[in-house]
Amino acid sequence: MLKRFSISLEDNLLRSFDKYIKAQSYNNRSEAIRDLIRRALVREQWQGDSNVMGVINLVYDHHQHQLQEKVTEVQHDYHHHIVSTTHVHMDHHNCLEVIIVRGKAKEVEELADRLIALRGVRDGNLAMSSTGKDLS
Ligand code: NI
Repeated sequence: MLKRFSISLEDNLLRSFDKYIKAQSYNNRSEAIRDLIRRALVREQWQGDSNVMGVINLVYDHHQHQLQEKVTEVQHDYHHHIVSTTHVHMDHHNCLEVIIVRGKAKEVEELADRLIALRGVRDGNLAMSSTGKDLS
């Protein structure tokens, strides 16, 4: 059930918000505010011990001594968290590894941090998602 509430905003802030809404193609303010609230709550879940799904992207040079072995070793340490791993040989030197993970936000972050910190990893990031099922 939808509930109504009113918000007080300074002129400038409201003008900026309306510009944002237009740029993001929202139909109205309510829709935009709902999305912003959901996003804030999902972000909060990431920091807690809620269950999330995540995607870790790694770019590394497979010529770096023992790096390939270390990337595999860390993943075996977290094998309960790993759903699937795809390895793409980008060019002569570089590999892209895309790892789909699930588990407690903190553990998923810890796994990503360990992989990204390995010497020779040129680029790495983690994107986390939750169903936000309590947020609809
Ligand atoms: Ni490769």
